[in-house]
Amino acid sequence: MELTAGKVAVVTGAASGIGFALASRFARAGLDVVLADIEVPALAAAEHKIADLGVNTLAVPTDVSDEAAVQALAAAAVERFGAVHVVCNNAGVESDADPWFGPVSAWKWVLGVNLWGVIHGIRAFLPHLLGQGGGHFVNTASIAGLYPGFAPSYDASKHAVVAISEGLYNSMSLAGLPVGVSVLCPGWVRTSIMDASRNWPASLGEQPPPSLGSEVVSKYVRRAIDEAMRPAAVADLVADAVVEGRFWVFTEQSFVDLVVRRWQRVAERANPDRGVDLPGMPPSAQLREEVLALLGLVSPE
Ligand SMILES: NC(=O)c1ccc[n+]([C@@H]2O[C@H](COP(=O)([O-])OP(=O)(O)OC[C@H]3O[C@@H](n4cnc5c(N)ncnc54)[C@H](O)[C@@H]3O)[C@@H](O)[C@H]2O)c1
Repeated sequence: MELTAGKVAVVTGAASGIGFALASRFARAGLDVVLADIEVPALAAAEHKIADLGVNTLAVPTDVSDEAAVQALAAAAVERFGAVHVVCNNAGVESDADPWFGPVSAWKWVLGVNLWGVIHGIRAFLPHLLGQGGGHFVNTASIAGLYPGFAPSYDASKHAVVAISEGLYNSMSLAGLPVGVSVLCPGWVRTSIMDASRNWPASLGEQPPPSLGSEVVSKYVRRAIDEAMRPAAVADLVADAVVEGRFWVFTEQSFVDLVVRRWQRVAERANPDRGVDLPGMPPSAQLREEVLALLGLVSPE
């Protein structure tokens, strides 16, 4: 789909990071932009910056985990602009709570935003896209949607986003319907994702403590993210994918290699490889030693 002036893009999680970069990229192409986010002051600031690029904007405070809020977002976008052409289901969070011994609220939060946010976004906007003759969804997953090596709740949510995106792509193309789909699977990107807990919802009770050992891992993930590619470069890749009607959007080959290696092991019926070194991170053996030292334990090997 061509990105031309007069078209309309909706971006969730638009107040920061990749979402803000997507909003800027679409505005630079002349599209009007609907910005949705749960963080209201940051959303207002983002809207001002996008409006300064000379396009029409609409900011809609939205919790994407809330179906009614996402339906209201779609209604507000259509009421203001008459049509919507690109929908980026991008809002996402991560939790460093212990997945097995911590409270279940951390799972509910991550799945609520990362998984249900995408489901609600598709279900709210698809009828409008079809009714007006077409459009394009961009769902932000992660390389964690193809390689489960981060946190289990995050990996699970992103695997689901990849599966849902592929399902939507298949059903649209099998039925010959003019709705394109891309799934964004980045490696590290320089954003505020490691401070996602700033948006922990009070409705889920007290914020869970970080898991034992996450102190070590978080330090290195923060470093990898601080040194990673800028969101604007990711937004350029997404814009190209929308224009070319391309499904997969990857940011770095080193992460794709990780996925291929994992699937080779699947085909060989080999057990998961716990010793994989992630790009931008210290060797996994070093990480394991540091976590064990933090816990006052010695390596069993
Ligand atoms: N940064 C990375 O390294 C990386 C890598 C792979 C995938 N991703 C994904 O990219 C997407 C964007 O994250 P980012 O890295 O730009 O982080 P970010 O924290 O900079 O931006 C996320 C935005 O989502 C918003 N948000 C959080 N909860 C929300 C909710 N319930 N409803 C609406 N908005 C909500 C936040 O307020 C924030 O503005 C996420 O889906 C994330 O999982 C990020």
